[in-house]
Amino acid sequence: MTYSRITGLGYYVPENVVTNQDLTQWMETSDEWIQERTGIRERRYFTYGKDTNASMAAAASRQALDRAGLSPGVVDVIVYATITPDYFFPGSAFLMQRELGMEGKPVIDIREQCSGFVYALSIADQFIKSGMYRTALVVGSEIQSTWIDKSTAGRNVAVIFGDGAGAAVLQATPSLDHRILSTHLHADGRYAEDLYVREPGSSRPNRAATKEMVDEGGFDVVMNGNAVFKHAVLRFSEVIEEALAANGLTPGDIDLLVPHQANIRISEYVRQQMGLSEQQVVNNIQRYGNTTAASIPIALAEAWEQGRIKEGDLLCLAAFGSGFTWASALIRW
Ligand code: COA
Repeated sequence: MTYSRITGLGYYVPENVVTNQDLTQWMETSDEWIQERTGIRERRYFTYGKDTNASMAAAASRQALDRAGLSPGVVDVIVYATITPDYFFPGSAFLMQRELGMEGKPVIDIREQCSGFVYALSIADQFIKSGMYRTALVVGSEIQSTWIDKSTAGRNVAVIFGDGAGAAVLQATPSLDHRILSTHLHADGRYAEDLYVREPGSSRPNRAATKEMVDEGGFDVVMNGNAVFKHAVLRFSEVIEEALAANGLTPGDIDLLVPHQANIRISEYVRQQMGLSEQQVVNNIQRYGNTTAASIPIALAEAWEQGRIKEGDLLCLAAFGSGFTWASALIRW
């Protein structure tokens, strides 16, 4: 049997730090409100002319490949998760592939929102287990600062999101001891409009964006924060339990939980549900906000850098997001 193993992790966050206090120049909000409701202190915003979605992903990927001791040329496939691509089409995976000089290699763009990285990891894992590919680059990258409404009208959404990118290199291994054990994916389209952006949608009478579409708020993120919160706490716990049960394990076996960084209160709820200590859960939302598909690989790469992941550890990745989607992965490091 062939399995897949993560052999390199990398991340890139733009240098521009935007604090909660900075946000008050555009909207009525406060550091106290944001910290109390979300745990976020600051986030990063990309620099126009320097960063793009694909360039940030390429930087994260270069670091992940360096740490794996590999050059881009040996990668067989790129699986790239984002909801904020550089172009409407083709996807940013093409642009990153070009930047890394990997012409000819297949790229897969996926858009499963905050669960995007775990979906991408699962896809790469299946390719490797089936024997089709031996090395995969799995990426999550987002520039959210351009589409959030930074006026008071958009503050419930705007304060949450940030920009950044993370990447993981997966390689084939025969080892039963160090590998991705399993991945678990879910979606429920009944809640699509509880967290969504309508435009630029194709099911419209006109080709061009009209003033009405803009005025109606079609390009703004619509979020039913309460519904998202309630579903998230339920699905996070459920999908972690599912992964553990599939492997004959219990919450007590988890060494490190890396949850999607949606809200510190959601992470805290899940931590308590699982009976884990604070040291066993990775939280960096305080510094980066919610970076959607990039949040798990950034958190994972930081945890690795900080020496929080040791050989043989049982890692659990878990995500919940728009769609709704939810997903988990269990990894024996
Ligand atoms: N600053 C100050 N006040 C704000 C604000 C902000 N940034 N955003 C909203 N408010 C106000 C509201 O206008 C409302 O005022 P009112 O009582 O006068 O009407 C009040 O704060 C409470 O708003 P509400 O939306 O009920 O707050 P909440 O306690 O539900 O917290 C979220 C809002 C968004 C933080 C919370 O719902 C949440 O975290 N949901 C999950 C979101 C998430 O994780 N999304 C990503 C999924 S991957």
